[in-house]
Amino acid sequence: MTKNFSNGNTIWKDAFTFHEDYEPDIIPYRDDEINKLIGLLKGVYEGQRAIIDVNGSTGTGKTLSVKKIIGEFKKKATVEKKNMAFVFVKCGETTTQSQILKHIAQEICGEEKVGKGTGDYLNRIRKKKKELDSIVIVLDEIDKVVKRSQEREVLFILADEPIFNLITISNIPDWQKKYISDRSVVSRSVSSHSLLFYPYKEPQILGILKQRAEHGLMDNTYTDDILKHIAKKVANRDGDMREAVGWLFKAGKTAELAGKPKIEIDDVNLSDAKFKDDETISYLENQSITKKLLVCVVYHYWITKGTHPNKTEVCSLYNSLTKNHSEYDIMKEGSVRIYLSELCQYEYLIRISGRGRGRGMGKEQTTYKLNMDEKEFKEKFYNKYWVK
Ligand SMILES: Nc1ncnc2c1ncn2[C@@H]1O[C@H](COP(=O)(O)OP(=O)(O)OP(=O)(O)O)[C@@H](O)[C@H]1O
Ligand SMILES: [Mg+2]
Repeated sequence: MTKNFSNGNTIWKDAFTFHEDYEPDIIPYRDDEINKLIGLLKGVYEGQRAIIDVNGSTGTGKTLSVKKIIGEFKKKATVEKKNMAFVFVKCGETTTQSQILKHIAQEICGEEKVGKGTGDYLNRIRKKKKELDSIVIVLDEIDKVVKRSQEREVLFILADEPIFNLITISNIPDWQKKYISDRSVVSRSVSSHSLLFYPYKEPQILGILKQRAEHGLMDNTYTDDILKHIAKKVANRDGDMREAVGWLFKAGKTAELAGKPKIEIDDVNLSDAKFKDDETISYLENQSITKKLLVCVVYHYWITKGTHPNKTEVCSLYNSLTKNHSEYDIMKEGSVRIYLSELCQYEYLIRISGRGRGRGMGKEQTTYKLNMDEKEFKEKFYNKYWVK
């Protein structure tokens, strides 16, 4: 990752400021949560055992805060030559029991090669344990692992090892109840704690946005009103700081694309629509292959014929495309109609009612049209899911 991916234009001072991996030096508005975490980790540092669960909705600074504090304790342990190890596991990427144990083994042994398979990894971890007083393992987005029954054992393996301290992070409230209600990770020898991160309110979102803008945008390329506008909208949704930061970045990109020297309110509003498209596209990713292809068919018909297709036209193009692809079933017009109506209900498509053809001649058929930015859709979805 390059630290500065701006390209010599006038908007960006440091565009990396808006990247997911950027970590600000200070984390405002999280003093209570951070102090509580520091207090608990001090106990661990001095030899107590703990399991800490961090919960709160998305974009509330959980990952950022835990990462920062863990980083500081790691430095302290190195300086004070303490036999402690800290391992951060991104369960969204390291998703299986075997991958998680391998990652922990590699981190605490400082070696790439740690054997093959769960048994080997555990042996390596257990051997290394003798040299260490304690190990803190952060399991970020733990729900992604424990929701799969075949992977969830890893949590109990880790919780049962007396040397491990765990910090689990999730944005699913009551993930334990939901996924592991029949078992507990907490035993008698370990104290358990929970930490809740509340969504940010408007002034807090504004404060954080100001900090980002000062660091990442050139002076005079934005106004307080722009930041206030974003803060207000995000606070009215669910206070997700990731959304706020992403929105400001998109507004900058929109202004840059238009060749403007500064961000204007129009760029912010335009980026909101784009933001919604991103959301729509990511929801669409979770739909069945049939629905994904149907949306592509509607778009393809429009770009190749210049008119919007009705259900008969969608059906015939769909069947001609899929006849050599066994993973798709042949569809009757009735099913296509039902699918299209669902896709309209979810607002992926818009229905255009047919015009009347004159007295006694009924109406033209209803046609269907994509309900998002065509360029975004083509780049992010159509190019990926179109079948040939
Ligand atoms: N107090 C803060 N100060 C500065 N930036 C913040 C703050 N809180 C959150 N952010 C920024 O908001 C974004 C989301 O934060 P983070 O990744 O910590 O959220 P999260 O609570 O872990 O969300 P999720 O549950 O979706 O994983 C990041 O870009 C982060 O840098
Ligand atoms: Mg997170």
